[in-house]
Amino acid sequence: MELKDYLQQEEFVVTCECAICLMEAKLQVINAELGIQYGRKVIHSCSSRIKSYDSIAAKLRNKGLAVTAENMEHYLNDVAGVRAVCTYTDDLYQIAEMLCAQEEMRLIKQKDYIKSPKKSGYRSLHLIFEAPVFLRENTRYAKVEVQLRTGAMDYWAGLDYQLQYKKEHREAKNIGRELKQYAAAIEQIDSKVLELRKRIEAI
Ligand code: GTP
Ligand code: MG
Repeated sequence: MELKDYLQQEEFVVTCECAICLMEAKLQVINAELGIQYGRKVIHSCSSRIKSYDSIAAKLRNKGLAVTAENMEHYLNDVAGVRAVCTYTDDLYQIAEMLCAQEEMRLIKQKDYIKSPKKSGYRSLHLIFEAPVFLRENTRYAKVEVQLRTGAMDYWAGLDYQLQYKKEHREAKNIGRELKQYAAAIEQIDSKVLELRKRIEAI
């Protein structure tokens, strides 16, 4: 089937939306529970999206694959995506652990770009789940990529994303180099701030 038609099929859209909705609900529950336990807000914002046709097609072409529904299903993990932004790095791992502990969630891949940042300097914790969508007749599973990052990692990634669209410009290389340095600075600040939080908690 043509990818464009497949993406417009109600069945596809509803499955993605339900899987995203389930994931967001789980994050809300985790946020509430940890909020009570720690006495502070853990997740500051949560957003989601279904990847557009253009982005899916571009990504498949980038990988040298034909633009088909089958290739999308098989090779792409981030067609449905949820992002949660927190203040502290330790909370990201706590949330990841709590999501993975849930019985019906199938973790298919974890990419820790915090411990091993990408060449660009990008940092975030990615979990790819197959999330269940419970229907009357059967249970369907949809892949959802959950990105967990701190506020600092988030604004860094936002700027880096903007730069991707201006790669051809002569200034882009210099800006990219400088941005990468700030990725390292942000990493230091994130870990220092976490240390301070722990010291304050210990008083
Ligand atoms: P492979 O690269 O083939 O492993 O697959 P992938 O691109 O789906 O996975 P990857 O983990 O590289 O990226 C998934 C998502 O993470 C992307 O769609 C972006 O949202 C984000 N991301 C990854 N790398 C970068 C980066 O260098 N900069 C920014 N801003 N976002 C990134
Ligand atoms: Mg990639």
